[in-house]
Amino acid sequence: MKLLPDDFQKFKGVKRVPMLTSYTCPVARSLEEAGIPVILVGDTVGMVEMGFASTKEVTIDHMEYHIGAVRRGAKDTHIIGDLPYETERDRETALGNSWRLSRVGADSVKLEGPKLDVISHLVANGIPVVGHTGLTPQTAENFKRVGSTDEDAERVFKEALAIQEAGAFLLVLEHIPAALGEKITQALTIPTIGIGAGPYCDGQVLVINDAIGIGDYWPPFSKQYAHASRTILQVAREFVTEVESGQFPNNILKFAGTKKS
Ligand code: KIV
Repeated sequence: MKLLPDDFQKFKGVKRVPMLTSYTCPVARSLEEAGIPVILVGDTVGMVEMGFASTKEVTIDHMEYHIGAVRRGAKDTHIIGDLPYETERDRETALGNSWRLSRVGADSVKLEGPKLDVISHLVANGIPVVGHTGLTPQTAENFKRVGSTDEDAERVFKEALAIQEAGAFLLVLEHIPAALGEKITQALTIPTIGIGAGPYCDGQVLVINDAIGIGDYWPPFSKQYAHASRTILQVAREFVTEVESGQFPNNILKFAGTKKS
């Protein structure tokens, strides 16, 4: 059964939440079948699927397309839709864009950084919000870990508290020291979901392409459970060999059970 925003509270300090990203219908279908309780359609889609150098290129139209596809694959799973760069630049723009994502299937929206007035405006208008602090790729100069100095750790800690105060029901913590992830998780009443934020968060999120090994770069804090890029390469090479030698499609006809030529 689909989780509602309030349901996430029951995990706090009890059971860790596994979250994966998805951008397509068939992947979403598999995640739902596996019992993943929450899918993030993140703006990482721009980098891992669309070939952009940064998530800044992603538009609200792109997100509508991908959220719609994921919803068609995972009808009973909570879907978080990312608000891309600048689509949450002010309260009314953010609200209009959140409605667009809701209409195609998002149950909640995520936005990066301490945009507190935007978060509270969305919540006041019935849009459940997921916060995101630590490394915030839309505006970061590089992808290095943040919160490593006392001063920066204090800034991230205060941002986390303020985002909760503004009304977020879940908070993503990206690429911060494990001790800071633990401190924030203990201080907040809402669940934290870490990505490169250590083992003490209330949940963990992984980008699906990193998890299945698609692409040529994976962040050091990700894990490859498979190497799908290698499989694609191998399949493509075998197909080339078989077509050129005439083996394909002759070698499938007997399996297809057809006498057609
Ligand atoms: O866009 C995304 O996939 C994200 C995760 C990295 C948390 O924001």
